[in-house]
Amino acid sequence: MSVIPRKPGELTFGEILNNPERYTDEHGALVLAAKSFADAMRHAIPCVSPEAEVIETVPPLPALATPADTRPTLVATPVCTEDDALTMGRIRHIQRFGFSADNSEIDDERQRAWWQENRQRVNAFLYTFGGKLVGYSALLQREDGTWVSSCAVLPGHEGRKYGGRILSHLIGSVGHEVYARALVSNPAACALHNDREWEMTGEADGCRHYRTRPKVRVEHGVSRFDYSAPEAELPCGWWMGEQR
Ligand SMILES: CC(C)(COP(=O)(O)OP(=O)(O)OC[C@H]1O[C@@H](n2cnc3c(N)ncnc32)[C@H](O)[C@@H]1OP(=O)(O)O)[C@@H](O)C(=O)NCCC(=O)NCCS
Repeated sequence: MSVIPRKPGELTFGEILNNPERYTDEHGALVLAAKSFADAMRHAIPCVSPEAEVIETVPPLPALATPADTRPTLVATPVCTEDDALTMGRIRHIQRFGFSADNSEIDDERQRAWWQENRQRVNAFLYTFGGKLVGYSALLQREDGTWVSSCAVLPGHEGRKYGGRILSHLIGSVGHEVYARALVSNPAACALHNDREWEMTGEADGCRHYRTRPKVRVEHGVSRFDYSAPEAELPCGWWMGEQR
């Protein structure tokens, strides 16, 4: 344990919480009314100027390198080229009977035309495991701007959790909500849309309709590294007003 002098004005969030009457803005509003923890910290720091005091603290542990995960895993490659799109089309063709929409054949010519027309509205991945192609996932943007998911795993690779992981990767790769539809008669497709990530919005004409649950919204204020050096943060915020 070591003792370090605290700089004037340097606060911890705990101090603010324990002494709310000390940390108000010039209108008397509690700084904790700020939008977020980060805002509260930023706004609170210049609110008071206590004399330098001595506090007991422990030096922070040094950062550690995270060990590499060397286990074999799925590898996702974004679909960027026409060749990638054709590969995706071939998987879709082989597995076309599992889909709730359009079970017709897809040859390369048809897939090429589809890609050329839609590629601005397609966000897709091919997946390999141990260098072998196992499946694809795709987000397709509809006319109203919303996105629908599609995925398939090649025969011979099914039932190994690839489908579930592929779909989770797909919806996790974007910040927006995703819609989906699955045939009631396709239990694997229904099971893919698990209750943790999806909500079922309805069932009609032999299909279940799904929508992803709301995403966790990340608020960016100061990064956690800034907390260790609050003096690096310039005073800012609406409350400073004339004090600038
Ligand atoms: C649907 C598909 C992608 C599933 O891929 P997969 O790799 O076999 O699926 P997973 O092994 O990840 O299993 C996903 C879930 O489906 C369940 N499942 C898999 N096969 C199943 C089957 N035949 N019957 C019932 N449930 C099944 C699994 O138990 C798992 O559920 P859990 O996570 O609750 O345990 C794959 O079967 C496929 O490509 N089908 C044809 C195309 C298709 O249907 N696409 C989906 C359109 S919405």
